[in-house]
Amino acid sequence: MSLLVKNIGTLVGVDESGRERVEGRAMAEVATLENAWLLADGGRIVDYGTMDSCPEVEGCELLDARGGWLFPSFCDSHTHIVYAGSREQEFLDKINGLSYEEIAKRGGGILNSADRLHDTSEDELYRQAMERIDEIVAMGTGLVEIKSGYGLTLEDELKILRVIRRIRETAPLDVRATFLGAHAVGRAYKGRQEEYVDHVCLDMIPAVAKEGLAEYVDVFCDRGFFTTEQTERIIRVGAEYGLRAKIHANELAISGGVEVGVANGALSVDHLESMGDEQVEALRGSRTMPTMLPGCAFFLGIGYPPARKMIDAGLAVALASDFNPGTAPSGNMRFVVSLASIKMKMTPAEALNAATLNSAAAMGESKDYGSITRGKVANFYITKPLPSLAYLPYAHQTPVIREVVLRGKHVKTL
Ligand code: NIG
Ligand code: FE
Repeated sequence: MSLLVKNIGTLVGVDESGRERVEGRAMAEVATLENAWLLADGGRIVDYGTMDSCPEVEGCELLDARGGWLFPSFCDSHTHIVYAGSREQEFLDKINGLSYEEIAKRGGGILNSADRLHDTSEDELYRQAMERIDEIVAMGTGLVEIKSGYGLTLEDELKILRVIRRIRETAPLDVRATFLGAHAVGRAYKGRQEEYVDHVCLDMIPAVAKEGLAEYVDVFCDRGFFTTEQTERIIRVGAEYGLRAKIHANELAISGGVEVGVANGALSVDHLESMGDEQVEALRGSRTMPTMLPGCAFFLGIGYPPARKMIDAGLAVALASDFNPGTAPSGNMRFVVSLASIKMKMTPAEALNAATLNSAAAMGESKDYGSITRGKVANFYITKPLPSLAYLPYAHQTPVIREVVLRGKHVKTL
């Protein structure tokens, strides 16, 4: 069934060039079309134009935007949505002065989530994750990457990835999966990190690949977690099994993760709260997408990534939520865009490009997602009439989203 949206006040994120990422200065431009219509069919965007040329399409569903703005859905290229329960006790510990690393060293953090996940059934995990999925769908996300990494045993990692597969089969939005066995060293391997890495490479990756449960492989390459040598080994084994690399790099310190990612053609290097000139330089001329997760810096109270330095150096940058129980318990991409503007001095247009086309590129999916382009998946949301583009990050708590359309289907009125 086709869907015709009429009376769109402003159609945002129009791209006729078919580019797969937007870099440097060009990030400051978002193309728009005033007083527009858009037609979707077979889940894809078929055509759009201005209302004076609005087609009559028989038998299609009609949606009146009533002068509201139509935006391409957010692409959230970094989340850990499948987790059990929550970790607000650690939130209190942080308020009382402990750092993220101190909490992790005491056996809290990721290991705490792994214990809880172990005791939670697949059905219950799915139920909890779907609540979070419903939340992000209502907030404008249309394509989401979800990582494992709270299992840390073969069985529990597979359990998470099977839950992700079930979400993919049942949720209205599009889902991609990442195997993150090297998120922390599993409890059974305490003090035997190299053996755990062997287990990840020799047992876990082959099992994940055998069931076809993931597109990507990730490693937490950071101080106190995994080294650059271990990271390189894991992503190279992943590549042999067809998994493309995405790396957690430079959250706690300059870890070498950026350089390893670039050298191995990783799709993205994510976090980047700690970045020197050498790391920015390493990213120049590479296809690896630097991805920033300002919700994490906000929640942990650490410094934000140097977005301006990267954009001014001509890089493309992406934004994602990092939705997880320990460092970013929110998948609100609009808030991520607001933080990028308020805290990292990205203009609203730059932040929007980073959260759509470039975050789709961070998943290798920008041919199909991330802009209003004929032939791309028809994922978009419609807001109330807005005074300007900047209003979206400016009025960061105002619920402006009115309608959500995913794969060309009208899925929600808010
Ligand atoms: O991206 N940094 C590593 N992983 C997550 C946090 C995991 C957790 O604390 O539960 C992140 O911030
Ligand atoms: Fe993360």
